[in-house]
Amino acid sequence: MNLIFLGAPGAGKGTQAQRIAEKYAIPQVSTGDILRRNVREGTELGRRAREYMDRGALVPDELVVAMVAERLGEPDCAQGFILDGFPRNISQAEALERTLGSLGRELDRVIGIEVDSEELVKRLSGRRVCRSCGASYHVVYNPSKAEGLCDRCGGETYQRDDDKEETIKARLAVYERETLPLVEYYRGKGLYRAVNGVGDVDAVTRAVVDAIGR
Ligand code: AP5
Ligand code: MG
Ligand code: ZN
Repeated sequence: MNLIFLGAPGAGKGTQAQRIAEKYAIPQVSTGDILRRNVREGTELGRRAREYMDRGALVPDELVVAMVAERLGEPDCAQGFILDGFPRNISQAEALERTLGSLGRELDRVIGIEVDSEELVKRLSGRRVCRSCGASYHVVYNPSKAEGLCDRCGGETYQRDDDKEETIKARLAVYERETLPLVEYYRGKGLYRAVNGVGDVDAVTRAVVDAIGR
């Protein structure tokens, strides 16, 4: 199963991708998580990506496209993958087609998780993320069992640098301008399936599973 999870910042791409990845035993490929790991480890890629991420802008295509091509070529992606946060514009979508073509693979579905912008802001401002495994929590909607600690791995949870009000606004604007056109793009290819992303996390997971089979 070769899947893309599309949606605005805070729509629940990461939350749902993690669950679906476990269910189908395929990896979640989150470009945001990979970039944050590079920033944390101080790699050349992380050093170049950081200034864009801090202001909520997209990291240049050439950096992200190469990173994804390398990741999708790894053995654990051979049975399928969930792309979470990629592609984010038409040029990345075209690059992905070339990458998949060279691997002899095709996309099966693009799942669009739809949430209104008022709800997105609430979700992002209360989000906490696990430093070790990337799991997402919310101080009100989806708290971890022990405050400050991840349910899955016991790691420490923290607030992402780009989950500040100003940066959230910038990220939402970038989404509307650059990423939203992908909905029509994938609709045109017959791959897009919309899911209502509002409701409890389990209900959204059921809707995603349903959309994958539709
Ligand atoms: P990235 O890490 O991809 O961030 P994003 O797209 O802004 O999306 P988020 O991770 O913020 O949201 P999500 O949809 O995963 O929501 P989550 O499940 O956490 O990208 C970060 C940056 O990296 C970009 O700004 C850019 O600079 C760079 N970047 C990444 N990819 C790139 C690319 N391809 N090209 C160029 N640059 C790139 O949920 C959010 C919150 O809501 C959590 O608190 C969660 O607990 C809660 N929640 C989830 N579901 C529900 C529910 N059903 N009800 C209530 N609360 C819920
Ligand atoms: Mg995410
Ligand atoms: Zn964890």
